[in-house]
Amino acid sequence: MARILTGIQSSGRQHLGNILGAIRPAIELSRNPKNEAYLFIADMHSLTTIKDAATRKENVLATAAAWLACGLDTEKVVFYRQSDIPQVAEMTWYLSCFTPFPMLANAHSFKDKSENLADVNAGLFTYPVLMACDILMYDANVVPVGKDQKQHVEMTRDMARSVNHQLKEEIFVIPESNISEEIMTIPGTDGRKMSKSYGNVIDVFLPEKKLRKQVMGIVTDSTPMEEPKDPDTCNAFALYSLLASEGQKAEMRKKYLGGNYGYGHAKQALFELIMEEFKEERIRFDSLMENPAEIERLLLEGAKKAKPIADEVLGRFKVAIGY
Ligand code: TRP
Repeated sequence: MARILTGIQSSGRQHLGNILGAIRPAIELSRNPKNEAYLFIADMHSLTTIKDAATRKENVLATAAAWLACGLDTEKVVFYRQSDIPQVAEMTWYLSCFTPFPMLANAHSFKDKSENLADVNAGLFTYPVLMACDILMYDANVVPVGKDQKQHVEMTRDMARSVNHQLKEEIFVIPESNISEEIMTIPGTDGRKMSKSYGNVIDVFLPEKKLRKQVMGIVTDSTPMEEPKDPDTCNAFALYSLLASEGQKAEMRKKYLGGNYGYGHAKQALFELIMEEFKEERIRFDSLMENPAEIERLLLEGAKKAKPIADEVLGRFKVAIGY
């Protein structure tokens, strides 16, 4: 039995790219009875960039609601909020004293952030130590992450090996990363990778009118209505293809190539497909957001399941260093 663990950034609402690229694959993975899945909302990491209390709470609720609405089963997955087990912050201190300064200074993600953010705080610098503790504290075996997080998992392995070596004891389980190379890059409304920071997302949980506006905002070229169009260079077609059946795809391709089919028509078809595809999810999302106490209850239940393992591993580490 492998314990699979991953953290979800709660820097905002989950968009179509998150759903197709992360939420659905993770839920799929968690359905395999051979795996034991731990999934948490990384709301302590979010303090590196977000300082506003109401925003943090809202982000956690919307993130949890999106995962739950997409079918996360809290009976099968230990689903919790990072800050509900604050012992992870204590362990971060201990582990940081085993972490060489240059390892952190060389992290791509820190270099990147320190060049692009105005607030370059120490939390951004020690971010990988907190992330390592997220993983090590639960004896995780496998950590599914996107390519951008691969280095952080490698650093986690190095830190764990170094502690085990220095303390001459198997304190930590050495985790493997699981990078799904074929994870599709979901194009945003402007053709670049869909990302909140580019402002090019499609948020399938928005009220109908706003969602339609986002879909209609997809950037296309100025080929006139009557002329044939190339489906393979069109964002609207690319997004449609991600959700459509083979038959629907072939049909739209024919319309593009045939002419007398405008981009507006394609976007309308995409909008309708999204409404259809996410019908149930949208209903569940709204009802969860109207009932934050229920989300809260589920998260606290998850934390209750996660805590004993966290206590055990932290205990192991503390005894070995003389506390
Ligand atoms: N840093 C991860 C991200 O930005 C989120 C994260 C925090 C995480 N702790 C983790 C992922 C532990 C995997 C394991 O996506």
